[in-house]
Amino acid sequence: MKKLLFAITVTLWGASPLLAADTTPSAPISPDTVPRTAETPAQHDARMAWWREAKFGMFIHWGLYCIPADGEWHMRQHKESLSDYSKLANEFNPTKFNADEWAALAQDAGMKYLILTTKHHDGFAMFHSKVSAYNIYDATPFKRDPLKELSEACPRHDLKLGTYYSVIADWGHPGGGAGCPKWDPAQEGSLDDYINNVSIPQVRELLTNYGPIAVMWFDTDGSNVGSEERAARYEPVLALQPNIIIDPRLQHFPGDFQTAEGRVPLLAPKGDWELCTRTNGSWGYTSAPARTLADLLGQLTDAWGKGGNVLLNVGPTREGIIPPDSAECLREVGAWLKTNGEAIYGSEAGPFTYLPWGTCTRKGDHLYLIVLAWPTDGKLPVPISTPVTDAHLLADPGKLLKTHLINGKTIIDLPAKAPDATASVIALKVAGQITPYHSLLLDKPVVASEDQKDASHAVDDDSASAWRIPSASGSLQVDMGKPETFSVLRYSTPYTTVAKAVLEVQVGNEWKTVYSEDNPKGTEFVRTFPPVTGQVVRLTITADKPAMRIGDFELFPPL
Ligand code: GLC
Repeated sequence: MKKLLFAITVTLWGASPLLAADTTPSAPISPDTVPRTAETPAQHDARMAWWREAKFGMFIHWGLYCIPADGEWHMRQHKESLSDYSKLANEFNPTKFNADEWAALAQDAGMKYLILTTKHHDGFAMFHSKVSAYNIYDATPFKRDPLKELSEACPRHDLKLGTYYSVIADWGHPGGGAGCPKWDPAQEGSLDDYINNVSIPQVRELLTNYGPIAVMWFDTDGSNVGSEERAARYEPVLALQPNIIIDPRLQHFPGDFQTAEGRVPLLAPKGDWELCTRTNGSWGYTSAPARTLADLLGQLTDAWGKGGNVLLNVGPTREGIIPPDSAECLREVGAWLKTNGEAIYGSEAGPFTYLPWGTCTRKGDHLYLIVLAWPTDGKLPVPISTPVTDAHLLADPGKLLKTHLINGKTIIDLPAKAPDATASVIALKVAGQITPYHSLLLDKPVVASEDQKDASHAVDDDSASAWRIPSASGSLQVDMGKPETFSVLRYSTPYTTVAKAVLEVQVGNEWKTVYSEDNPKGTEFVRTFPPVTGQVVRLTITADKPAMRIGDFELFPPL
């Protein structure tokens, strides 16, 4: 009988009488509220202040897909019909879910906000929605609202609550999958009806029924069906929480920050940005083991050193628990932050584009050197000549470290053994301006073997731009304006498999090879060689097939 009732509900969601066109806010907006679009820079900064201080949040991908346990795209990957996929709800009874345990774990990990997938692309709401019965409260034996429980638990653990919501991508409601190939007639329908009758009313529920929502983390499944007019329809409901911070994935809507998914860009993005990344190989639960602490901290500190926030994902199980190895990994990060958090919370990007031993954050006149590769000779080179008035390890604040200014750079004397096997942090107080340290090729004139127009993208300060050519092979020649000495090459080749890479320097009328490599693995490379002096350099990349890209081409002096 229960099954039958459920089947009826499932077939009804599209045509449910509960769905009523609804695009106006239900709560009055105070006349003092400044719309996001009309904010002054100071008002914008005030709204972003907690997020910039927080630096670290927990992402939680949890939904019906944790049962088949092969990732949150299960329904689409297996082209399961809604009537089949939705049967998972009958067996979804995560009785071990305990909101306080999750929030306490996030707090132990040093996280300051928590974002739950309130509805992923499968269309199943993880909150008690009155808009569609396809939700955890109405459609499962669990009969609880995890979002409500988390909204109560978060403040008890000093966490802000955010909501991930798949906004114009919903394979579980008619019209919601408008932009992607459909595999089930139940998905047919009008996208605009879906937006007006499901998506906007559910966003209103999220922003009305759960207290303060700090972040709205919209997502889509790659469908490109947004428009300015469609995005504008969300504005009145978003105004229900005037201080909310919004990600950039509601298409045609100005988000408050940029996202980087799974990978830290080689060069720091401008403005506010957030890395979302995972504790194991997937977003939704799979049995894949958690990453090692060294791997994770390497990536997290890279993002923090480039001024980003980090939203670190866990995928809870069908029982409602965060996998123990993920939890352990998070606690280890938390223990690291207990000692080294001063370097992270409220910090900005460091002034160095590349450091051979790690990364660096900055707060005013303090630099925080995050050392991943502890020097074997006990001497840490830092590319600054600004006077240092204090240097100490965050793990040993009472003991001052000696610094020396040698040939325009600062050398710090370090103890033989790193206090932390993974990443140790040195706080430096500096008196005076710091000259930014970047590639010798930055913004220098480039001559391309073809398609000159985009060549400068390879030497600009933006990793998202690239020199793209239709051929498989091409070269970029850069004149540094004066002879320079360099010993590090860093380059990236987005979406390109490199068959051969060659760096040459011009000596008189000849080209001398500095570096050459066949089939390097990956798309981002750092290569060091004995110092070379020259003014004009040339990088030639041969890809395994036509259409080659060079994202960044950089040279650095020896440190
Ligand atoms: C990707 C995945 C999606 C996930 C998101 C998190 O877009 O396809 O499932 O929710 O990343 O950023």
